[in-house]
Amino acid sequence: MPMAYLGGKGTKYMPKNRTAPVNDYVESILNKIDDQRKREKYKQHLTGVSQFAAMLAQKRNLDAEISAVAGLLHDIYKYSTGIGKYHSHNSAEYVKPVLYKMNLFTEEEQLIILSAIFHHADKKHVHDAYDEVLKDADALHHHFHDDSFDCNEIKADRIKKAIAELEIEGEINIAESKDISWKKVKKKKDVCQKFAKTASRLASKPVVGSLEDKHFKQILKYWPEDPPGDSLNCFFNDWNAAFVYHCCIESGFNLPVRYPNVSYRFCCVKAWLEWAIRSEVNLFIPYGCDIVPMKGDILVYKNNAGSGANLVNNQSPERMGVVLNFNGEFFEIAEGNSNFKNISEVASIRNNENIIGFIRLNDEYTYMGWQFDYKTGKYRAEPYIVS
Ligand SMILES: [Fe+2]
Repeated sequence: MPMAYLGGKGTKYMPKNRTAPVNDYVESILNKIDDQRKREKYKQHLTGVSQFAAMLAQKRNLDAEISAVAGLLHDIYKYSTGIGKYHSHNSAEYVKPVLYKMNLFTEEEQLIILSAIFHHADKKHVHDAYDEVLKDADALHHHFHDDSFDCNEIKADRIKKAIAELEIEGEINIAESKDISWKKVKKKKDVCQKFAKTASRLASKPVVGSLEDKHFKQILKYWPEDPPGDSLNCFFNDWNAAFVYHCCIESGFNLPVRYPNVSYRFCCVKAWLEWAIRSEVNLFIPYGCDIVPMKGDILVYKNNAGSGANLVNNQSPERMGVVLNFNGEFFEIAEGNSNFKNISEVASIRNNENIIGFIRLNDEYTYMGWQFDYKTGKYRAEPYIVS
């Protein structure tokens, strides 16, 4: 196996200093994981993928250091939170402010790294050169070091080509599963019912906005930055959007922490509005139309609605909660940070023009973020082919 990435006299590639601080950062995140076995496994994977990525990049005349950095960071959200769903998209979102604050990489380099992380779980499709390096490196490391690796025809094809490219010798035995669907989509069922039930249960606990509260810690777990990033400032001012997000995930309606092209993360009410009105999402029902609100709808309303609410400092001008009941005059909603009392409750909201509208989840919703190209911001219309 070529050892160029490991450096040493006479090697073509010597890592520049920039991988060291990234590695330190990754270690600082992994060191927070109590389970030593997991910690070591994660570290081995990130380091291993980083090394394979650097070697492949060098073979393909790309910047090995940039690929190495993408490899080091590519699964960081999953390892930090334990949440695997949409982990490539969430890792890119997680890493974005980290790279920015590190101030080590140019804007273009940051974009290349983030794009590779964003697309790395999509082994079925072909993206740009750096994206492909990370996907191949990831598949390669899983092949050599992961007993539970579920290798399908597409991943096997990537592994075979990468092994040949790196001139790794020896017998290659790739166990292929017949299933080439890279992601099995579980059919959602009765999302609205489950969602309303979860929201009602949590609102009645109640959840207190304190790190001492185990339910609040569950709501926090999707947003693990330390120190909190900008969107978390939004979160701490007003956690009812994060409350709704948690209820969604708990009821099987999965979303990444931020939808591509939406300006905010789902811990902000604005993000929900921006997401729901997008044409490919189309889940927003404006106030005043003929559609009758129902249990499980997400009610979005202006902050001065209801009794006793004050718009203080940076608090969001919009609020949201989950509809549990509607009698024509009042909504009963399950709300996280209800009336900014830092406690969840079932609140009563008058039906008037302060209501902005509703977001109605449904069982048919499909996340379309996979077709989003990270660099251009556009949805890819062309068919995906892995050659
Ligand atoms: Fe990985």
